[in-house]
Amino acid sequence: MKNILFIVGSLREGSFNHQLAANAEKVLEGKANVSYLNWKDVPVFSQDLETPVLPAVQAVRDAVVAADAIWIFSPAYNFAIPGSVKNLLDWLSRAIDLSDTTGASALQDKVSTVSVVANGGHEQVAEGFRNLMPFIRTQFVDQLTFSKVNDSAWADGQFVATEEVLSDLNKQAEALLSALN
Ligand SMILES: Cc1cc2nc3c(=O)[nH]c(=O)nc-3n(C[C@H](O)[C@H](O)[C@H](O)COP(=O)(O)O)c2cc1C
Repeated sequence: MKNILFIVGSLREGSFNHQLAANAEKVLEGKANVSYLNWKDVPVFSQDLETPVLPAVQAVRDAVVAADAIWIFSPAYNFAIPGSVKNLLDWLSRAIDLSDTTGASALQDKVSTVSVVANGGHEQVAEGFRNLMPFIRTQFVDQLTFSKVNDSAWADGQFVATEEVLSDLNKQAEALLSALN
């Protein structure tokens, strides 16, 4: 089975994007191995921090290299990709061997896709990823899932995916798996 690395773009306890990822994990059950990237210790990017490679950066690189695909679950912050997610991708986009900054990064040719839970800004976030992911040399699977936050979730913290969202997740998972075959 292929290894799919989930990158939840919110570090918030109880994140709705994390809860959508849990739904996607169920969709992939028996079809792929799923793991979650731990990226909370990756610092704000500075070229001064690139050498020697920090343990937190090495760890996220190793996890990405070991995966066949990455699936990002991202909120919208101010109708755009959250800065924290862009920061992580900036780190991952850097060449592994900095003696040639145009050389391969951990993301080189990696199959990637994105889902978004937000109440507004899905299209703007998606557009950001549609530009960014090919630019950082991933093979972007543009079969995305957009979800709103159900009203009750703001009170009880429980994100509920609609039937339509679950169907979109299924389509996205199939598109991702077929890009890997
Ligand atoms: C800085 C900031 C900007 C936000 N901007 C948006 C936005 O543009 N659209 C939106 O629907 N929600 C916005 N929100 C609310 C988030 O959608 C909400 O916090 C959501 O729970 C984040 O996803 P998570 O549950 O996975 O953490 C914003 C929240 C923060 C902290």
